[in-house]
Amino acid sequence: MKIIKTIAEFRKLRPKLTAPVGFVPTMGYLHEGHLVLVRRARAENPSVAVSIFVNPTQFGPKEDFAHYPRDPQRDLALLEKEGTDIVFMPSAEEIYPPDFNSWVEVGKLAGKLEGAARPGHFRGVATVVAKLFNIVQPDRAYFGQKDAQQLLVIKKMTADLDMNLEIVAVPTVREPDGLAMSSRNTYLNAGERKQAAVLYQALNLAQKLYSGGEKDAKAILKQMTALIQQQPLADIEYISIADADTLDELDRVKPSALVSLAVRFGNTRLIDNVAVG
Ligand code: PAJ
Repeated sequence: MKIIKTIAEFRKLRPKLTAPVGFVPTMGYLHEGHLVLVRRARAENPSVAVSIFVNPTQFGPKEDFAHYPRDPQRDLALLEKEGTDIVFMPSAEEIYPPDFNSWVEVGKLAGKLEGAARPGHFRGVATVVAKLFNIVQPDRAYFGQKDAQQLLVIKKMTADLDMNLEIVAVPTVREPDGLAMSSRNTYLNAGERKQAAVLYQALNLAQKLYSGGEKDAKAILKQMTALIQQQPLADIEYISIADADTLDELDRVKPSALVSLAVRFGNTRLIDNVAVG
């Protein structure tokens, strides 16, 4: 496994990689959710590259950039075990030199849900992913459905900007109680961690109500809200039932609508989603 820290080094190596090249961008502190993406990339491509970069531009000024968990030694050991060929671990200065001044804005889609709650977030995500795509030049890139809106934004960006690669979506990996795996779960104390299982229960409730014939979004949202509010540490930021392509809120729920939520437990903000039907 080669560990590469500069763009120049990556450029030198890139022509030697056997195509197709599969790429998994991450912010590190890897868990099983990330490793499933790596395994999928490993299974589908002769060359696999993974990036570890905690991207400062996708964090708001009051968000957790400085505290975001980091453990590069452990990450590298895990990636080695998965048979990763190349790990790209640039410094912040390598990606954002002092005179950096170009941004990728993905219009309407990036302004909803997470984009509304975290202004500038998707501008940071789209910009860094575009840069990583230009550096790595992958044939396929792997993203988790855990971050469903991110996946949509990246698909839109690659289509709009004629980026020549395939975006592969990978289902969410969950803990035994249903909590979606996330690097941020480590912030939760024992009480919060226990109560956080309610998020998946609420998403399952939406699925169950929908399957049972309830098509009124308001009615489903009301029951999800009541269930989550039974957990005293849960503080709901939003719950949404939206069109899976446009993210426009729905009045009548339709097949494959995206049910998504953001809920705080103490200082920790968790997101999750399912597609109904
Ligand atoms: P990060 O949160 O580290 O996630 C990296 C990738 O792993 C994303 O595609 C994410 O959707 C996926 N992932 C995380 N948890 C998952 C789970 N439980 N099941 C399945 N996939 C999961 O997302 C980012 O980093 C950044 O925004 C990035 C794309 C790297 C740009 O900075």
